[in-house]
Amino acid sequence: MDIALIQAAYIIAALLFIMSLAGLSKHETARDGNVLGMIGMGIALVATLWLALRDAPWGNVIAVAVAMAIGAAIGIWRARRVEMTGMPELIAMLHSFVGAAAVLVGLNTFLASDGAGDSVHLVEIFLGVFIGAVTFTGSIVAFLKLSARISSKPLMLPARHWLNLAALVVSAGLLVWFVAAHSIVPLLVMTAIALAFGWHLVASIGGGDMPVVVSMLNSYSGWAAAAAGFMLGNDLLIVTGALVGSSGAYLSYIMCQAMNRSFVSVIAGGFGSDGAVSDSDVDYGDHRETNAAEVADLLRNSSSVVITPGYGMAVAQAQYPVAELTSKLRERGVDVRFGIHPVAGRLPGHMNVLLAEARVPYDIVLEMDEINDDFPDTDVVLVIGANDTVNPAAAEDPTSPIAGMPVLQVWNAKDVVVFKRSMNAGYAGVQNPLFFRDNSAMLFGDAKERVEDIIKAL
Ligand code: TAP
Repeated sequence: MDIALIQAAYIIAALLFIMSLAGLSKHETARDGNVLGMIGMGIALVATLWLALRDAPWGNVIAVAVAMAIGAAIGIWRARRVEMTGMPELIAMLHSFVGAAAVLVGLNTFLASDGAGDSVHLVEIFLGVFIGAVTFTGSIVAFLKLSARISSKPLMLPARHWLNLAALVVSAGLLVWFVAAHSIVPLLVMTAIALAFGWHLVASIGGGDMPVVVSMLNSYSGWAAAAAGFMLGNDLLIVTGALVGSSGAYLSYIMCQAMNRSFVSVIAGGFGSDGAVSDSDVDYGDHRETNAAEVADLLRNSSSVVITPGYGMAVAQAQYPVAELTSKLRERGVDVRFGIHPVAGRLPGHMNVLLAEARVPYDIVLEMDEINDDFPDTDVVLVIGANDTVNPAAAEDPTSPIAGMPVLQVWNAKDVVVFKRSMNAGYAGVQNPLFFRDNSAMLFGDAKERVEDIIKAL
């Protein structure tokens, strides 16, 4: 394989990555998108390994093969074991690896060239190490918070914004020193500052805002990879990193809109939520309880049903009975559709993945904006393990911690049935006035068992 062939392989791989992203933007094509991405990555790996190892001694080839085999074995083991509910923390951990790789590549590039190189090259190294270090510690904190190993409460240091600003200003000064002196000292000092900066940036973000943080770190990991691409002079890594960086940034933007957060303040870190705030002292009156037989009656006499799933459906693994209930009702001529909030569950697309797994037809699974206007004409809404994403306080109470977050306006339907195990608050720690409305009834218990009871009662 000569250089021209390798360049051609890189272009094909880059095109496959772009087609993969296009495929991933819709449920119907997501599976194909994944396959295209895997083929692209396969081609990229073969071409890069060929380029790196064609003149290398056998010892190096074997070392790379062994490292890849160990990495692949760990990757396959983790991917097979992870539950859907544990995906966000796994993703956060994987981002930290990209960050660590960018730091090591940067330090190695500098040491291998003995400090030689023009200013542009040195700036590349400095920025690559900086982004990599921020991504590394930021992702570790995100992993620890998401897996509940540390508290999800935001760390509120006094003058935290000034600390962030100071870290940036000092790093800029170190960059000037680094380029002028070609010395490793400013590079190492900046690495230490960037590690602390990344840690602080994510530590100061509250649990409710973590979904945005995960996609933001996804974006950072892309830019870290692109920076590594510049350092290694590898065009494909630059393109791939830029694709991940920009698509992650765009996803963060969509999620900011879904949670009514400002994009700029997310990028700056330490924004928004002051943690899990509970307003459970407010007296919303009494709630009404129902049972599976009553819900079955309600469904039998309805012509339109909307199901709004949330994190509880994932916990209960209720997607299979929910799919069965859906097809039973559709056989009876009931119009059943799903309303999916952009941040329902614990990671973007969480509900879509579960429903696709249970073979719910894609065309009845609608986004929040597509279905919100239809609730007044809906007979019954089944809220299955969702809470914050259907909370009317977000739309009606300006003092609520989730005020302004767009939500599924399920309360406008004729009847609402809420499936959950208790009156506990959702992820944001906010009480939900929906549960106390006259047209709402609570169906307590594990969502999977309750849906199965309804299927039996039908
Ligand atoms: P949540 O507000 O977390 O509510 C889930 C509800 O499910 C809880 O109230 C819980 O009540 C119930 N539940 C749990 N296990 C259950 C089971 N086995 N059977 C029945 N019910 C069960 O979920 P949501 O409405 O999907 O909202 C998502 C929240 O997570 C938002 O605040 C969002 O910002 C945040 N978040 C989202 C993401 C992404 S990217 N999607 C990532 C991280 C965080 P009980 O305990 O009473 O059963």
